[in-house]
Amino acid sequence: MLTQALLVDDSRSVLNFLKRHIEAEGLVEATTFLDPVEALACARERVFDLVLVDYEMPHGESFNDSCIEQCAVRRAERRMEALQAGATDFLPKQPQSVEMTVRLRNLIQLGAAVRKLSDRAAHLASDVAAATRKLGEREEEIILRLALAVEYRDNDTGEHTLRVARYSRIIAEQLDLPARLCRDIYLAAPLHDVGKVAIPDNILLKPGKLTEEEMAVIRTHATIGERILADSSCELIRLGAQIAAGHHERWDGAGYPNGLRADAIPVAARVVAVADVFDALTTRRPYKEPMPLEVARNYLVENKGRQFDPACVEAFLSRWDEVVEIAAGRLDTRSPI
Ligand SMILES: [Fe+2]
Ligand SMILES: [Fe+2]
Repeated sequence: MLTQALLVDDSRSVLNFLKRHIEAEGLVEATTFLDPVEALACARERVFDLVLVDYEMPHGESFNDSCIEQCAVRRAERRMEALQAGATDFLPKQPQSVEMTVRLRNLIQLGAAVRKLSDRAAHLASDVAAATRKLGEREEEIILRLALAVEYRDNDTGEHTLRVARYSRIIAEQLDLPARLCRDIYLAAPLHDVGKVAIPDNILLKPGKLTEEEMAVIRTHATIGERILADSSCELIRLGAQIAAGHHERWDGAGYPNGLRADAIPVAARVVAVADVFDALTTRRPYKEPMPLEVARNYLVENKGRQFDPACVEAFLSRWDEVVEIAAGRLDTRSPI
């Protein structure tokens, strides 16, 4: 790519000479202007690698002074102003001089080198962005597959995981949580029951009613899930740890494992609590038939402020039409990745 030069001079003959001279080696393409105001307008639209400007021109905006003083003091001041504005060099206005030719060549090479560097920086930045995106996608995929592995133990479809993720996203969005957090809750929600890997089959898969001791064993899945996921360097997995630990806490403090109350429960766990219970109520389990959606809806309303964060219930119900679609498996049957 040719070096792009902008030449500004109020003398047509100087401009023509400079253009010929600068383009002679076939490395530069020069755009010329007699009028500095037009040149400025053009420089706002296009990127130039090199700008050569006669610094004693009438109407020059950059120097803001129509009365050109010739004294040496004023000239020195102008040079200082130009340097502060980013000028790199001052060329003698003697078009035939060897000095001018050499310094021009240096400036052209400098301009080309700067452009190469910035092209390289742009390339590197886009490579880094692509690699970061890939890493993020892998994290998301591994999280989902881990959640599916757990779910296959007590449910052979993996759909509970996906529905809970979708319900959770609706709630997070309606709570006006930051877009990034909504996405992260959506992606981490499937991890809520990851601690169930540690629950023995005879308890996890028992079709009948559980004894008190068995219930106590089941309840350990929250703490075990947190332990599996805690202290990760991956933000998404740390959010999964919060969700695993807190999705059976209750707004009124009567939940487990820590009996946290209200805002002491992390918001992601409060969101998933509503999504998880609603899905558990409305789907078939080995020990029960599915509850009709409207009945489950009433359950959420009745337990607003007791089991559930009232704002999360409101958020969930405010998009009821979508909830119905998700429950019916009609909305977005793809995986959340
Ligand atoms: Fe759970
Ligand atoms: Fe669940």
